[in-house]
Amino acid sequence: RPGPTRTPRLTAAPPPSVRVRAPGKVNLSLRVGALDVDGYHPLVSVFQAVALFEEVTATQAAAGSGVSLTVDGPQAEAVPLDRSNLAWKAAELLAAHTGVEPDVALHVRKGVPVAGGMAGGSADAAAALVACDALWETGLPRPSLVELAAALGSDVPFCLLGHTAVGTGRGHLLTPAMTRGEFHWVFGASARGLSTPRVFGAFDELTGGTAPPPELDDDTALMQALRAGDPTALGAALHNDLQDAALSLRPDLARTLEIAQEAHALGAIVSGSGPTVAALARSRQHALAIAATWTAEGAADSVWTTTGPAAGARVVAS
Ligand code: C5P
Repeated sequence: RPGPTRTPRLTAAPPPSVRVRAPGKVNLSLRVGALDVDGYHPLVSVFQAVALFEEVTATQAAAGSGVSLTVDGPQAEAVPLDRSNLAWKAAELLAAHTGVEPDVALHVRKGVPVAGGMAGGSADAAAALVACDALWETGLPRPSLVELAAALGSDVPFCLLGHTAVGTGRGHLLTPAMTRGEFHWVFGASARGLSTPRVFGAFDELTGGTAPPPELDDDTALMQALRAGDPTALGAALHNDLQDAALSLRPDLARTLEIAQEAHALGAIVSGSGPTVAALARSRQHALAIAATWTAEGAADSVWTTTGPAAGARVVAS
């Protein structure tokens, strides 16, 4: 006699999925030369990745469905949801390069200020590359991944690498830098972003196209401060050639910088092309005090405390 029949389980296994975290950055030093014929400015920059992360989850989608994208987190409403998004572009570029179909649902969780000069969008691209490479098992060698990253944007290779590094060229040719210890940062972000090309344009106007070629030799004290793990010396050596250009478009940032100084920040600069302002603190406690001062004075729309250096793009779950 047959035994009791069981209803077969119809719940299929969830589709494969990979989650990757990639950091935002601050330029400890950013030295910019005159606009080149290729439409870019030669740079020498010392990047530091900070522990504000973008998280990209790539989930296998049905054959033929292509790329789709959702975003959540702070300022998510300011992020494009179409193929102009760098995460979307990264998935399509990797698919085209490896010959796979770009059938993937991407979800981005923002943790870096949007359009703030901290490479949030570049971190999305770096994370999407690593996530799709793992999901599709395309196993791209590191140099090829870096090449795709550079094609997506000048800051994307650094978001892959993380930690602290010197960038040359458009900022995409990287050499890791030696550092000791942990640095405490405060970031004052604006609800309104600044467009990177506009800031470079303002730089061209201010310098009349005569900026000399950038030299890493000018960052000797900064590199020494990093090796020694000396935040006071690092604070004194922070430098940004785009700061005056960012201030010309956003004069209110001068007050944000001033308040940081009044709160005894070890140094304060505009981060990259801005408008985020970065202040270096002595300790976590001091970082919180600077953050509280900015908040009390209404000097930033949002205030973020964190540390650097932080690791580059890596898989956190699959
Ligand atoms: O490389 P990415 O697409 O992020 O650069 C955005 C824009 O920033 C460029 O189109 C260019 O106008 C400007 N840029 C530049 N020099 C660099 C990097 C970026 O002029 N080294």
